[in-house]
Amino acid sequence: MAQKFHVTTFGCQMNVHDSERMRGMLASLGYEEAAERGEADLILFNTCSIRESADSRFIAHLGEAKRLKSEDPERVVGVGGCWAQSVKEEVFERFPFVDVAFGPGQIHKLAEFLNSDSLSAQGYFEFEEFSGHLPTRREREFQGWLQISQGCNCVCSYCIVPSTRGREVSRDPEELLLEAQNLAADGVREVTLLGQNVNSYGRDLPLEKRISFSELLRRVDAIEGIDRIRYTSPHPKDMKEDVIRAHAELPALCEQIHLPLQSGSSAVLKRMRRTYNRSRYMDRVALIREHVPDCAITTDIIVGFPGESERDFEETLEVAEEVGYDGAFTFIFSPRRETEAATMEGQLPHPLKVERLERLVEVVQRRASERAQRFIGRTMEVLVEGTSRTDETKLRGRTRHGKAVNFDGVASAGDLVDVEIESATSQTLSGVLARPLTPLL
Ligand code: SAH
Ligand code: SF4
Ligand code: F3S
Repeated sequence: MAQKFHVTTFGCQMNVHDSERMRGMLASLGYEEAAERGEADLILFNTCSIRESADSRFIAHLGEAKRLKSEDPERVVGVGGCWAQSVKEEVFERFPFVDVAFGPGQIHKLAEFLNSDSLSAQGYFEFEEFSGHLPTRREREFQGWLQISQGCNCVCSYCIVPSTRGREVSRDPEELLLEAQNLAADGVREVTLLGQNVNSYGRDLPLEKRISFSELLRRVDAIEGIDRIRYTSPHPKDMKEDVIRAHAELPALCEQIHLPLQSGSSAVLKRMRRTYNRSRYMDRVALIREHVPDCAITTDIIVGFPGESERDFEETLEVAEEVGYDGAFTFIFSPRRETEAATMEGQLPHPLKVERLERLVEVVQRRASERAQRFIGRTMEVLVEGTSRTDETKLRGRTRHGKAVNFDGVASAGDLVDVEIESATSQTLSGVLARPLTPLL
């Protein structure tokens, strides 16, 4: 009988994509995916360490793996991703039942380990670079990821990512375009370009290969079969006019830009080492509104950064109010090991951070809900993803703006359909499938 594996993924899209590659790699080694962890011979965790809550969630899961391993010591437990990279060999000191640990993307190393004779010895594999051309097992056949770079050259003082994913390395554009063409040939209609700072893409490439991020977008847009392009995340400091204009010019590039704010206070932004201030951020927003008026803008915001005063926080509320985000991920500052901000003076008490988060969420949701009302009465293109999570009689999909839509009608996952929008909340739209035009006989 084939060996079975189970993988649990934490963290961002990078990890989701890495897990897809893990699945593809394991399938090519003859493994099958188990529906539950308890049925697996190989138990894998793809970890995140961005906030303390990510660490603790993963460690709670590890407890079950320990129990399963003690029931059947033949089982192999593997821990990959950013948490593994940030604690390195300490993994084995703290959790002796773990057999193998590997840094983000080091999936080929996992294959080497599984194929080696020394399955019984514990092994740790360092983060190196992009792990190349592994087969992937996509969650949905019509959506695919394209990882355009690895690592991050920024030094945001709160962030653990540069130490877990290394320096920024852009992948060869020709290789990327080939991969995008293969995805399209394989039925992918929507691709998401992935990187920690996508719009600095290419700067590290040798001159003869160097292309800009907007040029990369242009070339992906030209590929037959790709109907939608998204990317995440751009850094506001590198968000230049050419990329913004591309949203107006390229038919496949969606009307959605994720523009991480982090804080509305220039003083806090400075201590975060974000290298832009409030007014430069607002200039970017104005430029987006000028060239792509209907564009959805989403963001990430951290509250409770060390030294954040009530006035600093109010500035964040003001920006949230002024921009009117279509959606936002809001986080409580979490001190991370070996980051500058973890030891800064002025760490705030947890209850104050929670109170600020609640006040921010109120503004974000109210504005998102107000913004969403503009879609009511419009017929919008929706990429069908399946049945609704809350109501099995309805379908669910996403607009080009990135809004989830629940709607009535008949369609298959992967179809692009027109939906008439009837109502809207901060998170989701509802509607009905537009009646297709009757063909003229
Ligand atoms: N490279 C991307 C995303 C990085 S992680 C970018 O810069 O946009 C995703 C989000 O997690 C960040 O945008 C930030 O808002 C949040 N984050 C990162 N480190 C954090 C920390 N120590 N505490 C709280 N939130 C954090
Ligand atoms: Fe972290 Fe900043 Fe890099 Fe984003 S840009 S991954 S927040 S260091
Ligand atoms: Fe987490 Fe690593 Fe992504 S820390 S957010 S999985 S880059």
